[in-house]
Amino acid sequence: MNIRSIRQLVQAHAITEGAGVTVHRSIGTPALKHLDPFLMLDHFGSDNPDEYIAGFPEHPHRGFVTVTYMLDGHMEHRDSMGNRGDLVAGGVQWMKAASGVIHSEMPRQANGLMRGFQLWVNLPAAEKMADPAYQEYSPATVPELAGDGVRVRLLAGGYGGGRGVIDDPHTDLRYLDIGLAAGRPFETEVAGDHSAFIYVFDGEADTEGGGLLRHHLAVLGEGDGVRVVAGPAGARFILVSGRPLGEPVVQYGPFVMNTRQEVEQAFADYRDGRLVRARAMMTGA
Ligand code: FE2
Repeated sequence: MNIRSIRQLVQAHAITEGAGVTVHRSIGTPALKHLDPFLMLDHFGSDNPDEYIAGFPEHPHRGFVTVTYMLDGHMEHRDSMGNRGDLVAGGVQWMKAASGVIHSEMPRQANGLMRGFQLWVNLPAAEKMADPAYQEYSPATVPELAGDGVRVRLLAGGYGGGRGVIDDPHTDLRYLDIGLAAGRPFETEVAGDHSAFIYVFDGEADTEGGGLLRHHLAVLGEGDGVRVVAGPAGARFILVSGRPLGEPVVQYGPFVMNTRQEVEQAFADYRDGRLVRARAMMTGA
């Protein structure tokens, strides 16, 4: 295995999103605008209700997929097409906004810890105006492999003979949540032609080319494998990879298209109440 080493280290920085929610953004910042096919990674994590209680009231999306993974807490998703979803600790949601979705993501808790990730995954040009789709999986349905100081939750893609619940056919998304005991090493293959990153959200870890602190994202360079060793207090991180699309990206806020004209069309459609074209079909368990 040719182990990938760190190509770029990005420290997530706190920004305010939604109606006043503090998130740590790593992909989608001046330091790392995109990591094709990934457009944005927000890590929300707070035990202070003032930092999350306002939630993400109704807002539109067009042209990409959002993947939301809850670590702690409870958020309620509602969309313009009648889907209602409960995002609870350990659960995962895949929403293909494609031609257009208007939704809200609001806390269903008044206090306590709220933690999770939202990843934006781009869609190929041919899928940007396709019908929306929706997958939601409860915590108990997410496969988990545990033993010998390693715990791997399979959100998407394969590991150890298992397969994650989320299927993103456009990028072959792989999304693992990995917990390691103190000093424990972890190795897995990563498709050589995929973009890949690690984001540490608990503890510290070492990988080829350097150390990773909490809120650090490491973009992995060329190779077909990854090796991580947990620090003295253990580590928990996500390992995410996907096939790059290699297409132009024109993004303005919640609209991500291939040309400026398409983005202007999205604004016009939203203004005129034409953003939502088709009802999303929900699948999940
Ligand atoms: Fe959203």
